[in-house]
Amino acid sequence: STARRPLVAGNWKMNGLRSSIATVEAVRNGLSPVLAKTIDVLICPPATLIASCVAAVAGSPIAIGGQNLHARASGAFTGSISAEMLADLGARYVILGHSERRAYHHETDNGVHAKALGARRAGLCGIICVGETEDEREEGRTLDIVRAQLGLGVPKGATAADTVIAYEPVWAIGTGKTPSTADIAEVHASLRDMLGTMVGPEEAEKVRILYGGSVKAKNARELMAVENVDGALVGGASLVAEDFLGICAAY
Ligand code: G3P
Repeated sequence: STARRPLVAGNWKMNGLRSSIATVEAVRNGLSPVLAKTIDVLICPPATLIASCVAAVAGSPIAIGGQNLHARASGAFTGSISAEMLADLGARYVILGHSERRAYHHETDNGVHAKALGARRAGLCGIICVGETEDEREEGRTLDIVRAQLGLGVPKGATAADTVIAYEPVWAIGTGKTPSTADIAEVHASLRDMLGTMVGPEEAEKVRILYGGSVKAKNARELMAVENVDGALVGGASLVAEDFLGICAAY
């Protein structure tokens, strides 16, 4: 996938204690300087570890991001964290609308849209996740679902600098199952086409569209070679430095 700089992002989900900083250090030490010139590498730890992860990657090309935020900048929202707070810690990206947040925290497309605006306001790059469930795929509704999520979630005026899309089929997350490369290519092409109608074809060509769902070192090369796949959003395999580095090495 041509001019777009690939992004390999790790989503640690609710995993990691202070001892896990060693994993970030191992990724930092293991990432070849040659590779770091070619791809962007991002780790999204739980919010409790963002500050220490930022310190651990200081001076390296690795970026740190959040997994969620509250759309508002501040206020009476007990337990919530704003984009400004993430940016203040040195986070540069934030995952938005992950299927686990949609499923367990009732996040809607409108909510994702508001959060994306919050991310932009604070200068963070939002990684907006879309993806169909197994039932939706079996009913032949995959493209309708992901296009609707994209259309409602991505704010007007989105650019490649403030927006990344991640296609994560819900049934492929943590299951070891992946769609065929033809199915991934179909979805990614459709998402880019939809982006074109939203932000114009020129900007749409620059926006990175990641694939996520059971990306491992052993399937990364095949998945990352699919047209319009501009990187990976990695869950389980991002928790082990050598597995994550193995995925980075697919480039
Ligand atoms: O956000 C990435 C994630 O949902 C994929 O998880 O464990 O299938 O790589 P996993």
